[in-house]
Amino acid sequence: MGENMRIVVTGGTGYLGQGITRALVAAGHEVKVIARHRGPIPEGARLVEGDLRTMDLTDALIGADAVVHLVGIIREQPSQGITFETVHTNLTFRLLQTMVAASVRRLIHMSALGTREGAPSRYHQSKWLAESVVHQMQGDGIRPTILRPSFVFGHGAPFFQMVAQMVRLPLCPLPESGGSVEVQPVWRDDLARLVVRCLEEEETVGKVYEVGGPERMTYRALYQTVARALRRPEPIFIPVPLDLLQKVAHFGALVPQFPVSEDQVVMLRESNVTEDDRWVAIAGVKPTRLEEVGQDL
Ligand SMILES: NC(=O)c1ccc[n+]([C@@H]2O[C@H](COP(=O)([O-])OP(=O)(O)OC[C@H]3O[C@@H](n4cnc5c(N)ncnc54)[C@H](OP(=O)(O)O)[C@@H]3O)[C@@H](O)[C@H]2O)c1
Repeated sequence: MGENMRIVVTGGTGYLGQGITRALVAAGHEVKVIARHRGPIPEGARLVEGDLRTMDLTDALIGADAVVHLVGIIREQPSQGITFETVHTNLTFRLLQTMVAASVRRLIHMSALGTREGAPSRYHQSKWLAESVVHQMQGDGIRPTILRPSFVFGHGAPFFQMVAQMVRLPLCPLPESGGSVEVQPVWRDDLARLVVRCLEEEETVGKVYEVGGPERMTYRALYQTVARALRRPEPIFIPVPLDLLQKVAHFGALVPQFPVSEDQVVMLRESNVTEDDRWVAIAGVKPTRLEEVGQDL
């Protein structure tokens, strides 16, 4: 595919979307963002307000060269019909069907590290079904690249902002995941660069890439790194057993904006790391470490 593509970014106002749309515009592409509400988009991009579950997508897709599909949720809101199944799986099917009808074939699909058959969390199960939809639709001409990032940091990542609040407390609650559970945070700008390069590189079509940062760390080390970045003293941790956190999250589900869901606690029980580093050569970057971004977490 040549330069100056017309690219539709679903969820382009979100945390990842803001970095990815900026990188796409900077690379010279024409970018149209779809989101339900007005939100931040870079100068030169266009926003189409609509709910991907119900809007007339054909209009938004006609004439596009590619779609970067970012819409996803980490928490369900069942009372509003916002569940992992409806948002990750059904909505992806609807989007891809409309892409086929509108003759838009190229897709970058944002999945998540840990997505696999039989994953314990419902988040990852629904992401797995969404990936299966993407694979099936290759039979109808969809040309996908699937990306599975670990935790993304930089430029105001919600998870890292939450950790920053915790390490400022006199006593810092630390989920007791155990010393063997590790994560592999990846910098948002590196991931955004990867999306741009995937659209340029034919060899990425039909591939699934896991995207982990340059270092693995336990949650304890992650919290300590964040404290250092904020020039705070070493946190005094109070370990919170995951069984207790699970119970608290169960009742917390009744409280809007409660900070952790039961499904997130399920995810805290397993590592979120990968051996796959093929993305580094494609992105052409030296992956940035958490410590290198200072306070811009
Ligand atoms: N952040 C991470 O560390 C991370 C790691 C791995 C994978 N991911 C995946 O990356 C993707 C993006 O994550 P994010 O952190 O950027 O999420 P986010 O900040 O919550 O952004 C979600 C975006 O989707 C839009 N959206 C949500 N529901 C929609 C709907 N029904 N119709 C149209 N637009 C809708 C939101 O805008 P409105 O609310 O205005 O509609 C927003 O623009 C997700 O698929 C997520 O699972 C993220």
